[in-house]
Amino acid sequence: MQENVSLQPYNTFGVEAEARYFTEIHTPEELKAAINFSSSRALKTLLLGGGSNILLTGDFDGLAIRLNLKGISEQPDGANHILVTAQAGENWHEFVMYCLEKSYGGLENLALIPGNVGTCPIQNIGAYGTEIRDVFVRCNVLNLNTMETEDFDLEKCRFGYRDSIFKQEGKGQYIILSVTFRLTTQNHSIKTEYGAIRGELSNAGITEPTIHDVARAVIHIRKSKLPDPKETGNAGSFFKNPTIPLPQFEELQIRFPHIQGYPNGDAVKVPAGWLIEQCGWKGKQIGNVASHPLQALVIINATGQATGKEIFDFSTLIIDSVREKFGIELEREVNII
Ligand code: EPU
Repeated sequence: MQENVSLQPYNTFGVEAEARYFTEIHTPEELKAAINFSSSRALKTLLLGGGSNILLTGDFDGLAIRLNLKGISEQPDGANHILVTAQAGENWHEFVMYCLEKSYGGLENLALIPGNVGTCPIQNIGAYGTEIRDVFVRCNVLNLNTMETEDFDLEKCRFGYRDSIFKQEGKGQYIILSVTFRLTTQNHSIKTEYGAIRGELSNAGITEPTIHDVARAVIHIRKSKLPDPKETGNAGSFFKNPTIPLPQFEELQIRFPHIQGYPNGDAVKVPAGWLIEQCGWKGKQIGNVASHPLQALVIINATGQATGKEIFDFSTLIIDSVREKFGIELEREVNII
């Protein structure tokens, strides 16, 4: 147990904030001991995975626990599938690369997403036409009410767009210890419907892509558009893409003929990046904070000196201008601490 520890290395925004207490755990037993330390002193607890989806807006007056559970295990599942279980502290992209090296299919569209395995179910991470729920079997969690472990299957997780039970009624009640995925060992289902992937593959002259080709395309697209947190602090998309009722979209189409939208039941999902760009934010910098010049949805710690509060205030200005221009309320995707 350490005291007054800087959390700067543990959040991909790279903002400075201190935790009153800090510990790194490597086993479920160490995790339980840390939780007991926290509850016996009535401390707040902050769980740190890859730190890629949090914004620390000030010092944390409680116990920050860095989950460092490691390990990957496999179990064949019929002729065409394999069940792969990764512990929560495995780095997501390294895990995706591990699966690709073994030619297991299903995660290739999700290459290069920052963060750890244990946090991927919380917001049902997704990119380029795939979401984690497509290959998810179960996760093993520590129930903080009972201090027992239990499994959550696909149904129990109630996945939605960047959403799950862990962000809703289960918020703060469970700690994900490991996640099991069902991947293909042959006859992979290749997902190339996302326009940018199709373009990337056709530029490379690939007509029958393998899972490795798809991963390479995804990595290339992400590297060309999204800032590397090791170089420029960021947390990926700062906002969710908003879903609005069809009549509202049709009315906006009259005023903004170039507005983009993807039908989603009776509603339409609108790219927040486009809305933010139209409000003039793309590449704009105020103080130490900016909207990324190549993807307006990503807020960056442009100078490396930004405080969490500055980033939060910048995001509020974006929300205000999108509301004013389009009447749409943007919702933050990043967890504000
Ligand atoms: N767009 C703009 N201006 C911008 C950015 C985007 O006009 O500055 C337009 C693009 O032209 C495109 C549309 O918005 O037509 C969608 O853009 P993009 O393909 O970049 O995807 P996105 O909707 O902005 C989502 C995810 C990303 C994921 C990509 C690819 C959310 C909140 N974000 O972004 O996820 O990588 O799709 O699948 O759903 C993340 O969650 O951190 C993340 C990076």
